[in-house]
Amino acid sequence: MPQHTGDAGTALVVVAHHRSDSLTAHTARRAAARLGAAGYRIDLLDLHAEGFDPRMNVEDQPDWGNREKRYSEETHAHMRRILDADVIVAVFPVYWQSVPAVLKGWIDRVWNYGFAYGRSKPRLAGKRILWLGLAGATADDPIAQGMQSVLEATLSEGIALYCGFSRSTVGLLLDAEERPQRVDDEGNLLVGDAVTGAEREAQYADFDRRTLEFVEKFLADESLVA
Ligand SMILES: Cc1cc2nc3c(=O)[nH]c(=O)nc-3n(C[C@H](O)[C@H](O)[C@H](O)COP(=O)(O)O)c2cc1C
Repeated sequence: MPQHTGDAGTALVVVAHHRSDSLTAHTARRAAARLGAAGYRIDLLDLHAEGFDPRMNVEDQPDWGNREKRYSEETHAHMRRILDADVIVAVFPVYWQSVPAVLKGWIDRVWNYGFAYGRSKPRLAGKRILWLGLAGATADDPIAQGMQSVLEATLSEGIALYCGFSRSTVGLLLDAEERPQRVDDEGNLLVGDAVTGAEREAQYADFDRRTLEFVEKFLADESLVA
């Protein structure tokens, strides 16, 4: 199997977490390694480490009368990285059934009018994206199904497919917390005992397995479209 040869194209792996020792960052490294093994050149974009500012500003605010508007240099640098990518894999913790502010701000500022949308021939047409969201909810929590639907509606339909991507998949990685948590019928947050030792190792191994499964399924689907 080729290693990071770039023969398969470029994969932009976007990480949205403030700690490099987080499960999110670990999951992003696992996903990147698998994409590298499949022959992708990896462009790792750690939004926090690179100091990306998610706040919208005057320079990057779209001008609906001018889709050729020149946005900030920072935004243009990110646009180039997106254009260079054949696939994007965004790895993030689910916050309020959505993406964290840093990732939302990256989309707000960079996936801009005239670049990501607003053209009869979208510049991002044909690209593919996998959204890997880590969620604290447990797999048996009834909230999980609704979370999957909300994320698909926002990230796949509302953003990626709207911008001309040919494929957008949401991989929801539940059970991301060491202490299982769920909300009971009265709205109380029930936090279980921390998993430790061999059980914790097994939980991590299962998490990695599910991550690889999502990435491999995404790659397999891709070869069907290619
Ligand atoms: C502000 C905030 C909002 C959260 N919202 C949700 C949520 O809507 N659903 C959920 O299952 N977990 C939610 N969580 C839990 C996170 O998804 C979980 O802590 C994270 O995925 C763990 O990964 P990490 O260790 O890499 O941070 C939330 C956590 C925070 C801090």
